[in-house]
Amino acid sequence: MTIPAGSAIPHDQRLALCKALRSQIRKQRRALSAEFQQQASTAAAARLLAVIDAQPKIQQVALYFSCDGELDTSPLFAALWQRGIKTCLPVLHPFNRGHLLFLHYHADSPMRQNRFGIAEPLLDIRHLVLPTQLDMIVTPLVAFDNQGNRMGMGGGFYDRTLANPHVSALAVGYAHDCQHHEQLPLAEWDIPLPLIVTPNRLINNH
Ligand SMILES: Nc1ncnc2c1ncn2[C@@H]1O[C@H](COP(=O)(O)OP(=O)(O)O)[C@@H](O)[C@H]1O
Ligand SMILES: [Mg+2]
Repeated sequence: MTIPAGSAIPHDQRLALCKALRSQIRKQRRALSAEFQQQASTAAAARLLAVIDAQPKIQQVALYFSCDGELDTSPLFAALWQRGIKTCLPVLHPFNRGHLLFLHYHADSPMRQNRFGIAEPLLDIRHLVLPTQLDMIVTPLVAFDNQGNRMGMGGGFYDRTLANPHVSALAVGYAHDCQHHEQLPLAEWDIPLPLIVTPNRLINNH
């Protein structure tokens, strides 16, 4: 099904399109071999590190823990720690549903599984980093387009974080090339990303 350019599509139609697209891309992503994943993560890390190295003011970076065939962030964590850059991970807000907190994360941080089965740092207020203190937010995603539009897993978590006008972090989508999709079924609350990094491309819409 194609979406007429610039037109809003009805809510249920958008949900159905999102559901089908998520399932198709997640299946493709999970089918990538371990060797492909390894090479992809090294190539994408080098591309993103070139951006970070060009901006010395980047001192606190939020990343994610990869699952479900997502582009592996472990080479990035290692390289950022080597540079003395502080890394954070998202934590589901305990009572403000749909919102994320960010906690400082290092190799020895105590972790727990959240309700999506994703590992997150144990909530400890001493390790809280406000989203306004972050210099870069590297977001996972299911699909992206050349304009930097992002489709996530359907929780709207990063849309809410980035909707905060006080958040000045550079938001970067981090994904496999096969997650590109030309016509994303977008909604008015979707916030585009100024930068998308894949193993083969850097899409800059700054
Ligand atoms: N800034 C926001 N404020 C309130 N609700 C939001 C905001 N951003 C997204 N949402 C809600 O989050 C839900 C999921 O958003 P969606 O964009 O479909 O998910 P995702 O970005 O994870 O693909 C939507 O039902 C939407 O109403
Ligand atoms: Mg969205």
